[in-house]
Amino acid sequence: MNELAIIGGTGALDLFPGGDERVLETDWGDPSANVVRVRLGQYKAWFLARHGRPHRLPPHRIDYRANIDGLRRLGVKRVVAINAVGAVDPGLAPGSLVIPDQLVDYTWGRAHTFSDDGRHPLEHVEFAKPFEGPLRSALLAAGQAADIGLVDGGCIAVTQGPRLETAAEIRRLARDGCDLVGMTAMPEVSLAREAGIDYASLCVVANPGAGLEEEPISLEEIHQVLSSAMISVQDLLAHLSL
Ligand code: HPA
Repeated sequence: MNELAIIGGTGALDLFPGGDERVLETDWGDPSANVVRVRLGQYKAWFLARHGRPHRLPPHRIDYRANIDGLRRLGVKRVVAINAVGAVDPGLAPGSLVIPDQLVDYTWGRAHTFSDDGRHPLEHVEFAKPFEGPLRSALLAAGQAADIGLVDGGCIAVTQGPRLETAAEIRRLARDGCDLVGMTAMPEVSLAREAGIDYASLCVVANPGAGLEEEPISLEEIHQVLSSAMISVQDLLAHLSL
């Protein structure tokens, strides 16, 4: 088994028509939801709603360990994560699709490793290139095949949320070298690395980061941007060649 899973975040709940459901088995706690069998172009994948179904779990309450361990036990070897993000780089317009290659982790207090209570041997996973792997390249190739513009590379800041940032925090993230800001890539991607899962993120820019524009960030606009961008996301995933 070399299964693919899609972990869908904000705006991605109804990305695919759902089929059979499966309960994720895991000793780590409660996964966000049952996984659903979905069809993407030529192949089938599992879909996991990161914030639960219905959407209810804030980023710091998601049991990332349960989700990743449950997927691993299901035979999942590759995960495409869909992350709604704000732009730190003012050049990234809402609706842009970015395949990040770096991250800076600003989260705290999240259960973030399987090397925790003696059940797993202590392991210091290599993490210099957190999203590196064949799946990331396959996503970029799918963008070319589907003629969908993707930004290749970018550094995502992962903040604790659920509140959005202050303008000063966005300026600091820019000084730290970040291009994007989201709340859920960590510890999801490092747990996937610990579990031996090839993990690539597809970031959907929902809004300019706090303070980049005069007006306050509008949640209604975020939802509108995300729902129109999901059409391209669906098309892109249907062109993945695995
Ligand atoms: N900040 C953090 N996470 C986000 C944002 C943001 O502006 N937009 C969507 N997810």
